Amino acid sequence: MPEQTHTRYGSNIGQPLTRREGLLKVTGSARFAADNHPEGMLYAALATSTIARGRVTFLDVAAAKAHPGVVDVIVPGNTPQLAFDPDDKDSPFTFRMDVLQNDRVRYANQAIAVVIGETLEAATEGAALLAPRYDVEPARMGLDGNETFVPPAVGVGEPPDIDNGGDVDAGLAGSAKRVDATYETPAQYHNAMEPHAIVAQWDGDKLTVDTPSQALTMGQGRIAQLFGIDPANILIRSPFLGGGFGSKALMKGPQILGIMAARRTGRPVKLVLRRDQMFGPVGHRAPTRQTVRMGTDDSGQIQAIHHHNHTATSSFDDFFEPAANLSHTLYAAPALKTTHTAVRLDTGTPLFMRAPGEASGSIALESAVDEMAEACGMDPLAFRLKNYAEVEPISGKPFSSKNLRECYEQGAAAFGWSKRAAAPRTMRDEAGLLVGWGMGTATFPALIFAADARATLKADGTGLVEIGAQDMGQGAWTALAQIAADGLGLDIDQVEFRMGSSDLPNGGIAGGSGHTATAGNAIHAAGGDVIAKLARLATDDQRSPLFGAGNAGVVARDGRLVRRDDESRGESYADILARAGLPALEGQGSAGADQDAQKRYAMHAHGAVFAEVKVDPELGQIRCTRLVGAFAAGRVINPRLVRSQYFGGMIWGVSFALHEEAVMDHRSGRPLNANLGEYHVPVNADIPSLEAILVDEKDSIINALGVKGVGEIGITGTAGAIANAVYHATGVRVRQAPIRLERLL
Ligand code: MOS
Repeated sequence: MPEQTHTRYGSNIGQPLTRREGLLKVTGSARFAADNHPEGMLYAALATSTIARGRVTFLDVAAAKAHPGVVDVIVPGNTPQLAFDPDDKDSPFTFRMDVLQNDRVRYANQAIAVVIGETLEAATEGAALLAPRYDVEPARMGLDGNETFVPPAVGVGEPPDIDNGGDVDAGLAGSAKRVDATYETPAQYHNAMEPHAIVAQWDGDKLTVDTPSQALTMGQGRIAQLFGIDPANILIRSPFLGGGFGSKALMKGPQILGIMAARRTGRPVKLVLRRDQMFGPVGHRAPTRQTVRMGTDDSGQIQAIHHHNHTATSSFDDFFEPAANLSHTLYAAPALKTTHTAVRLDTGTPLFMRAPGEASGSIALESAVDEMAEACGMDPLAFRLKNYAEVEPISGKPFSSKNLRECYEQGAAAFGWSKRAAAPRTMRDEAGLLVGWGMGTATFPALIFAADARATLKADGTGLVEIGAQDMGQGAWTALAQIAADGLGLDIDQVEFRMGSSDLPNGGIAGGSGHTATAGNAIHAAGGDVIAKLARLATDDQRSPLFGAGNAGVVARDGRLVRRDDESRGESYADILARAGLPALEGQGSAGADQDAQKRYAMHAHGAVFAEVKVDPELGQIRCTRLVGAFAAGRVINPRLVRSQYFGGMIWGVSFALHEEAVMDHRSGRPLNANLGEYHVPVNADIPSLEAILVDEKDSIINALGVKGVGEIGITGTAGAIANAVYHATGVRVRQAPIRLERLL
């Protein structure tokens, strides 16, 4: 790591700046992938399968080709040759994809042809004229009735069974009070506002694509692998994403088909998925059925926890929702184990989606904890405090930092938790609606991935900072620029900040809530590197007022290096560079996991969420009327953006608890509600009052900047808090998400 001693935090980091790209977005001038129209561009439309399993036996390619404006039709047999079998796997991050290599159908909405036209209308009509016929095989759907097995690994490589060495069965047998309950969560689809889209253009062996990506360098590598070209010949531009939620972390089949279409026609091609086509090839959250068994002694002290998750993956790949693993972190238990089983279904392969594992696991665990507290006759908050984990329960490791107690305290105070009536179905509002208050603990691992950044000081004393980072809407354009400016000791307006393009240094992954830690630490280190070089130029030079101050004896501030012992003595960056005759000075920085620290410490963000719901006693209609979340996640780069991230996560939590469900037709294997009219997500009227409290937390172990992730933690805790509030309002425990009114009756 370069020395951090020259730069300070504070002039830019910590400021509640508004989004720097906000004006572009609200005026419609931010150019998203599908807004690109290179000269001579064609339009591609996918034809997608209406069956979930079988073979395509006929496509009326002649009819499609005969349609005016149709230029070409890609079907199995005429695709450009690939250099890597898309059904091969060389890492857990290489997901198999369907890109017209054969006539097999493995899930509904799979691509079975690509029609390319001079207009979108021509391509769309051409695709409709294909009138496919199929050999249909029965679709395997649902968590029951299919062969259950223990997955080789869950998530992207964790073992399926983990324990802390305690004897769970003995712990449960010896418990005075027990809960043994099963919770179900449905399949969910990411449904970012911006669908997957690509504009691809080839120039010989060079490829330029405009496509939303949460991981530019990884995407570049995947395209290079499939097409057998040098990654350096691929430029991915992804300045803005209209949401990613995990589904844009990897290049998916439809994007590869867009690149194939451009290769075949020799012209730029645009391919944008229709909303219903997003329900298949670009990932989803798999359904789960989770059983939580928990026992306490007479005092309410947990003796044992077993969290089992039964989930599903596709027939051809291996992503398993690691829903039980959140139980590793939250509550002290001398005996703790998590296990997973799965079935294979005729669906697209599940993928990371908005706190993958943690979100589904959290509603189950937090509901079970609420049931356990009630069995012990304890207030849910008092129960959680009694079972507070001082060290990580699964590993015994200390936490690098954990300010959860403060989250409980501040959240409860802001919510007014102490006024909660203990018994369910005893609180009413003036209108006679049943009122329920519930809570949940939030947690998310603090991840960091590998990234590099470049910082340059120019002759005029201004800066340039470059990294191939991505903004999914979370505010990276602003937060990372704040870090860039502090790293260089400049005001944010004196730094040009470039990101969102694969020709910049590897910005890592905007996923796992790790992007600010990842890109931010690389950026800050790059600033530190260039300032250290500048400091050497000055302190080694007798003509400088900083001569002899020593390498660590100077500090960067407002475009000047000054003596640490006398800040009135110093000189500007421009003067130092001018005297050295340098037009610019460049520094590099990188970020990545500190393996040693990870071995010794458990690293997580924490929070506490308090929810109020109102339920109509006659109709069962449920409204979430109030949510208060208090979160501790290390250093806050921009409180305005962090609060927005927590709001977003909490809204996902509302969505998880009360709205979202992909309803699958078990006969056809098709999602029945593959549209935003029937796939319910909350709208403004569903979210009346939100409060997010930013709880102070210092972490000097986790990474140089001391930041943890804030993107996904808000969904955890919230869904369970709402489920518990519904129980408190009604006395009816619904163990199936989403909690809909008919499930209360
Ligand atoms: Mo996310 S599911 O970490 O992109």
